[in-house]
Amino acid sequence: MTKVVEGKNIKRDYHVGGGLFRPARTVHAVKGVSFSVDKGKTLAIVGESGCGKSTLARIITLIDPATAGDLFIDGNKVDIAKDGLTKEMRRKVQIVFQNPYGSLNPRQKIGDVLGEPLLINTDKPAEERRDLAMNMLKKVGLGPEHYNRYPHMFSGGQRQRIAIARALMLNPSLLVLDEPVSALDLSVQAQV
Ligand SMILES: Nc1ncnc2c1ncn2[C@@H]1O[C@H](COP(=O)(O)OP(=O)(O)O)[C@@H](O)[C@H]1O
Ligand SMILES: [Mg+2]
Repeated sequence: MTKVVEGKNIKRDYHVGGGLFRPARTVHAVKGVSFSVDKGKTLAIVGESGCGKSTLARIITLIDPATAGDLFIDGNKVDIAKDGLTKEMRRKVQIVFQNPYGSLNPRQKIGDVLGEPLLINTDKPAEERRDLAMNMLKKVGLGPEHYNRYPHMFSGGQRQRIAIARALMLNPSLLVLDEPVSALDLSVQAQV
C-alpha cells in the first residue's frame, strides 16, 4: 500500500503574550503527532476543542510551518519547518475549512471559483476549464444554473459543497477536511 501522507512526531508551539501585563508563554498546540494514511483511505482525527486539530490540518496542508517533526506526502519528504514549497506539492494537498462563509470570495462567481485552480496550476483552455467546473458542480449536487451565481446566493450547505468542489478540481492526492459540516444544520450535515 502506498502512503499518501505520513507524519512523524509533528509538533507546533505558539509563543503568545509578552505584552506589558502578560508574561510571554508557550502554547504546545500539537505535541508530537504521528500518523499515516494509505491511498484511498480516510483517517478521522477526533478531540475536544483546542486540542490542536486545526493546527495539524494547517501543517499537513502546508499553510503553516511546524516546530518539529517530519512530513511525507506521496513518499516525498516535505520541509514543514519552512515556507517556499513548490506549486506541485501544494496542489497535491487541498483543504476544506470549517466555515463555508469565510472561505469563498464574495465577488467571485462560482464558475470562476472552480475554474481558478485550473487557471493557476494548468494550461487547460477556457472551454475545458468550464466543462470540468460544470462536471464538478454536478458531482457535488449542484447544477449548471449555479455557474454564474455569487457565494451570497447560496445556503451554508451549498457553499460547503462549492468549497469541496473547489478542493477536488485539481484531483489532489490528499483532501483535508477541518470539521467541514460542524457549522451546518443537522439535516444539511447529513446531505453534505
Ligand atoms: N495562531 C495561534 N497563536 C497562538 N495560539 C494558537 C494559534 N492557533 C491556535 N492556537 C492555540 O493552539 C491550540 C490548538 O488550537 P486548534 O488547532 O485551533 O484546536 P482545534 O482545531 O482542535 O480546536 C489552542 O490552545 C489554541 O488557542
Ligand atoms: Mg479547529
